[in-house]
Amino acid sequence: MSTALVILAAGKGTRMESDLPKVLHKIGGAPLLHHAMLSASALEPERTIVVTGHGAELVDAAAQDFDPDANAVRQKEQLGTAHAVAQAREALDGFDGEVIVLYGDTPFITTDTLEQMIAARATHDIVVLGFEATDPGRYGRLLMDGETLSRIVEYKDATEEERAVTLCNSGVICADARTLFDLVAAVGNDNASGEYYLTDIIGLANARGLKATAVTCDEAETLGINSRLELASAEALFQQNKRRALIEDGVMMQAPDTVFLSFDTIIGRDAEIEPNVVFAPGVTVESGARIRAFSHLEGAHVSRGATVGPFARLRPGAELAEDVHIGNFVEIKNAAIDEGAKVNHLTYIGDAEIGARSNIGAGTITCNYDGVMKHRTTIGRDTFIGSNTMLVAPVTVGNEAMTATATVVTKDVPDGAMAIARTDQTNKDGFARKLFSILRAKKAKQAKG
Ligand code: UD1
Ligand code: CA
Repeated sequence: MSTALVILAAGKGTRMESDLPKVLHKIGGAPLLHHAMLSASALEPERTIVVTGHGAELVDAAAQDFDPDANAVRQKEQLGTAHAVAQAREALDGFDGEVIVLYGDTPFITTDTLEQMIAARATHDIVVLGFEATDPGRYGRLLMDGETLSRIVEYKDATEEERAVTLCNSGVICADARTLFDLVAAVGNDNASGEYYLTDIIGLANARGLKATAVTCDEAETLGINSRLELASAEALFQQNKRRALIEDGVMMQAPDTVFLSFDTIIGRDAEIEPNVVFAPGVTVESGARIRAFSHLEGAHVSRGATVGPFARLRPGAELAEDVHIGNFVEIKNAAIDEGAKVNHLTYIGDAEIGARSNIGAGTITCNYDGVMKHRTTIGRDTFIGSNTMLVAPVTVGNEAMTATATVVTKDVPDGAMAIARTDQTNKDGFARKLFSILRAKKAKQAKG
């Protein structure tokens, strides 16, 4: 059965106190909008329509960034959730499968929950996702009659008795396209807010002899973001869930609360993550690798048996093969480090390749940027780069080659050769002692005034 998604994301999000559209605020390194799209992606939606309004251009771009086939439609004025859904009608012309309506600011709905809603569609025309609220506050209330959902009443329009109901509306709705758009077209705005409420389609459906019901999920799933505080709580919840999932899959963390993960962080079984490690988006760590304390990783791949840190930084394009060692105060960017190579101390490797088993000495820098363009450094296998070597790219150092400490490498180094480029040393006999005594005498004179 084919499904389409309609994601409502036109609202202003005034309470965020931000110039950025609400759905572009991030948790786990991804915009809220992507989380909503991600939870539904397992259903392989045939079409995805994002209804945008405030900050539409940015939101459209973000939607397309997640799914190039996503279709953005504009809601010029935010006249209510039913009006928002109606904007998707044209874009879904000719589609006659299931439509799932989601909110762009509600990131935690699970695929499993959406599947339960679709399953309930077998026996009902409309399925609404509800939850038992610990504090029902201003949520819309689901008025049930046994299995049947007879009406949804918005808080503002509810009687005292209706407000006492704790079963609340999450906003997620599932129905076949024709039914949904027919009902939405019939919704009016004669209510306390003067808005076109999507929730009104339930009463209308019942009046037409259609059957509506509610599926329920955990309240945590329905958490919507309206303020920065809620965003921060959502981030905390996301982190907790992601850490737990990784640990359950066999990742070792001594202090999980200090490890920060992204929506797409992948870590293999028996990998060890020490305290205070940050995984920005795009990181894969294979089984048995070890990420030591206070490291920051982004867009990087760490293979089996490799060690990173403590205090290391892997930037986008860092590709570490098996058994590579990256040590403290080392930064790696857009560089492939081959099997068993070691970069252990105080080093910058950018736009480079390092061959298998090569050793990069402390303080080595690939000078990859000339102020205008970036250049590559290539280092062969079984090569030894002496401490404090400056590799002025573009440059190639061969296999089984060597550079002397403090060499500034400006020319290619052939296989098996040693490069040395620094001034020769001269020792001036007795000079240090003489200089010390002159300086000490000067200091003593100054102290006397
Ligand atoms: C809505 C529901 C309420 C439910 C609650 C759950 C209605 C009438 N009410 O109320 O029953 O308990 O969500 O959080 O549906 N949006 C648009 N265009 C609009 C209006 C809204 O795109 O014209 C989008 C918003 O950006 C937001 C979502 O729809 O993502 C929900 O809108 P919001 O105004 O927050 O609805 P609530 O009043 O919270
Ligand atoms: Ca809301």
